[in-house]
Amino acid sequence: RIVFLNGSFLPIEEAKVPFMDRGFMFGDGVYEGVGVLEGRLVDNDAHLERLERSLREVRIPNPYTRAEWTHLEEELVRRNGVTEGFVYFQVTRGVAERDFMFPENAVPTVAMFTQVKAILDAPAARTGIAVVTVPDLRWKRRDIKSLNLLAQVLAKQAAREAGAQEAWMVEDGFVTEGGSSSGFIITREGRVVVRPLSNAILPGITRKALLALSKDAGIELEERLFTVDEAYDAAEAFLTSASMFVVPIVSIDGRAIGNGKPGPITKKLRDIYIRMAT
Ligand code: PDD
Repeated sequence: RIVFLNGSFLPIEEAKVPFMDRGFMFGDGVYEGVGVLEGRLVDNDAHLERLERSLREVRIPNPYTRAEWTHLEEELVRRNGVTEGFVYFQVTRGVAERDFMFPENAVPTVAMFTQVKAILDAPAARTGIAVVTVPDLRWKRRDIKSLNLLAQVLAKQAAREAGAQEAWMVEDGFVTEGGSSSGFIITREGRVVVRPLSNAILPGITRKALLALSKDAGIELEERLFTVDEAYDAAEAFLTSASMFVVPIVSIDGRAIGNGKPGPITKKLRDIYIRMAT
């Protein structure tokens, strides 16, 4: 398995990050993840645009141009022979003696790897998944894709221990988003409901693409907050993410959504998204 670290492609066993890297010590960095389908990056420009914004917001210099990032991603996908899966890349503020303020001459650390993963034939997409709700314990800048994922680690572990595959995080009674995905419900009237963008959620790239595709398909959309009770009562529910595309949700906190099977509008949206991505 070949990874990319600070300018070199090398076997993962040889890829070593210094002890005092601020990503390790502080979680001082940001990341991105892009889906790979048929060996090609899905919606890569939108992911790079979000990376640029994340870096700007935390004031880490962007080490590469968009063309350079794209080249590195494609090269890593090629070297690992990935046809379906995920490219992960992160940038930390670099290596320096532990001190909270920005170091003066630190060089950002760039790490990138790929994962082989079934997206089109994932069992979750066929059968749908169970979700449980948990309190949203994250910080107030969730629009930045930062490395600090402790709240999501705990949320998703709680989901697993409850027999579910994703956690929906809840704040003031309203669903924010999934531990690593955007959350949607579909009302009994067939309207797709999703939380509007703000500092409370990550601006999902799959979410954005899906909203545009839904509009084109004539599906009615409502960008507004929704409560957990409204989600329990929904006709359908689903999540989106770069590594899973569109995945039906068939239960929330043990309550069946709709008839407890993947819903027809969700299936249609997944098909539309896959058609766009291939
Ligand atoms: N997670 N919300 C959160 C909190 C996320 O971590 C993610 C992505 C999303 C979906 O965004 P996108 O459609 O751009 O992937 C929403 C990635 C896949 C991860 O951390 O593995």
